[in-house]
Amino acid sequence: MADPMIREMGPDDITEALEVFASVAQEGLWLGTQPGFDQAARAESWRVGLEDPTRRTLLVVDPDTGRILGNGSVHMARYGVAEVGMALAARVRGQGLGGRLLDALIDIAREFGAHKVDLQVWPHNDAALGLYLSRGFVVEGRLRAHYRRADGQVWDAIVMGLILDPELTDGSRGSGLADAPGLPTFSPS
Ligand SMILES: CC(C)(COP(=O)(O)OP(=O)(O)OC[C@H]1O[C@@H](n2cnc3c(N)ncnc32)[C@H](O)[C@@H]1OP(=O)(O)O)[C@@H](O)C(=O)NCCC(=O)NCCS
Repeated sequence: MADPMIREMGPDDITEALEVFASVAQEGLWLGTQPGFDQAARAESWRVGLEDPTRRTLLVVDPDTGRILGNGSVHMARYGVAEVGMALAARVRGQGLGGRLLDALIDIAREFGAHKVDLQVWPHNDAALGLYLSRGFVVEGRLRAHYRRADGQVWDAIVMGLILDPELTDGSRGSGLADAPGLPTFSPS
């Protein structure tokens, strides 16, 4: 396969992109979205999302066949933080594509004027954690016993962030107000 390309998702891509996304959800290990999710509703929300100026979705595409290999998205919140998410078909993982896709998503976050990028990742997702750490994200916390899964299990989630604004990267808390007394100190790692 020639070097995959990264391009914006359009309305005609949604069905195929959703098939790839559903195949990742079907693995049951990596995404918040679980097997059996409502694909028609998701297709509609992706369609609506294409009109939303606070959202962008990129596709990873095989240039030889035009087949979609994965997608990544950015959503810019009103408070200036861009949330990213991504999913690649199993057969193309571990070849540097996730890194290229994440770099492109971070570029979009900068275009949006985000001061920070954030995301959540399952604690068992070695590849995603490795990818985010490789791009400078730090672990900001752990949501304990947070997400109830369809099978009844409850999973923790790791919260990670990448501060983009150079004026905020000096380790300051980003708040001019003092902490309440007795609040435990916490340093991102
Ligand atoms: C997570 C995911 C997007 C990463 O993409 P990828 O193409 O597999 O990752 P890359 O090959 O670009 O690797 C990028 C970096 O991640 C790290 N990494 C990749 N796989 C890893 C693994 N299995 N263990 C530890 N680190 C790993 C490496 O540091 C690598 O940096 P390097 O290029 O310097 O070696 C991809 O595996 C995926 O889609 N997984 C399923 C869905 C998912 O987990 N989405 C994220 C939910 S939070």
